[in-house]
Amino acid sequence: MINKPKPADSIQSLVSYRPAFGKNVSKSLIRLSANENGLGCSPLVNQAIRKYEGEIHRYPAQQDEALVSAISSRFKINPERIVTGNGSDELIYLLCTAFLNPGDEAIHTQYGFLVFPQAIKIAGGVPVVAQDDHYTVSVDSIIAKLSPKTKIVFLANPNNPTGTMLSEQEIKRLVDLLPKSVLLVLDWAYSEYVTEGLADAAQLVDASENIVMLRTFSKLFGLASLRLGWGYFPSEIYSILQSIRPPFSVNQLAALAGRIAIEDIAFQEESVSHNHFWMKEIVDRLDEMGVQTHPSKTNFMLLDFKRNTGLTAKLLETLLIEHNIQLRSMSPYGLPDMLRMSIGKSDEMEQLTMSLRQIMQQQGR
Ligand SMILES: Cc1ncc(COP(=O)(O)O)c(C=O)c1O
Repeated sequence: MINKPKPADSIQSLVSYRPAFGKNVSKSLIRLSANENGLGCSPLVNQAIRKYEGEIHRYPAQQDEALVSAISSRFKINPERIVTGNGSDELIYLLCTAFLNPGDEAIHTQYGFLVFPQAIKIAGGVPVVAQDDHYTVSVDSIIAKLSPKTKIVFLANPNNPTGTMLSEQEIKRLVDLLPKSVLLVLDWAYSEYVTEGLADAAQLVDASENIVMLRTFSKLFGLASLRLGWGYFPSEIYSILQSIRPPFSVNQLAALAGRIAIEDIAFQEESVSHNHFWMKEIVDRLDEMGVQTHPSKTNFMLLDFKRNTGLTAKLLETLLIEHNIQLRSMSPYGLPDMLRMSIGKSDEMEQLTMSLRQIMQQQGR
């Protein structure tokens, strides 16, 4: 037997989640594959970073008070329960580390965010899949998967990659049916795009000891590259996370950018209305071309080629790359007949339309 370091059992069967956005992505690529904000970020953030004269050689604050206070004022929540992280991804990993013993189960939904099963496995837990109902999370199937070993339920709402959303009533039903010993993670990454009907997750956190809310600066706020997320937690869970989180996971520039981004309401409003306009417009255009889409509450949508003959998701993905446009294959999510497309800038959406029309024509459709 070869004598060499052996990785933990928990990661031996891991299928690593590594979104392939391509190496050395050229600036001219129209990247509609990563659910980023098509408009970029607040110009005030870019200005502040260019002018930044802080002390780069110093470690950052463990929790940037100005950032926490800005989040607390913007969302009217208790600053003493906010934890920031290196993207909300980091908080997902921390929750798994904090609450899963080897062999414990954590439920995630069928067509859900792939970081959930990855983080569960790395922590030694067992991911348990709750089937969706028509590409929508099903509270009943989550409840049916509960066992004495269940420690966590992960729920992204609206959901990535399906774009569907559970109503406030359904979320309340889930909260009522779930044992208080199970941690419910409400991942509200796309909540800022929703204008009505979304449950107030912060209120649910305030009223419980087993519910947490995760949020991100990577979507509406347009700071994906800086890696900044945050969560709102019951006080005991807050203390646990503070005690295990890496002390300096949020860097100074990310904290500064986050504070400025959250205060720039005009940019947020512009982003939401840009998204709503193009979401409707592009769905109509795709419909005219005979491409089926799934209704979405987010800044991305699924293009569905299941019923189409001839053009497949794989072929369209390849042909669009020749036009310098990148959509996201949904094969890793178990949806090989679909592509996910986020809303980009207006000229990118026009270019996409032109390319699609050309491709359709060439394919004789
Ligand atoms: C549902 C969901 N949660 C969390 C994240 C991660 O966000 P962050 O960039 O803050 O790590 C994403 C990113 O795509 C997401 O779709």
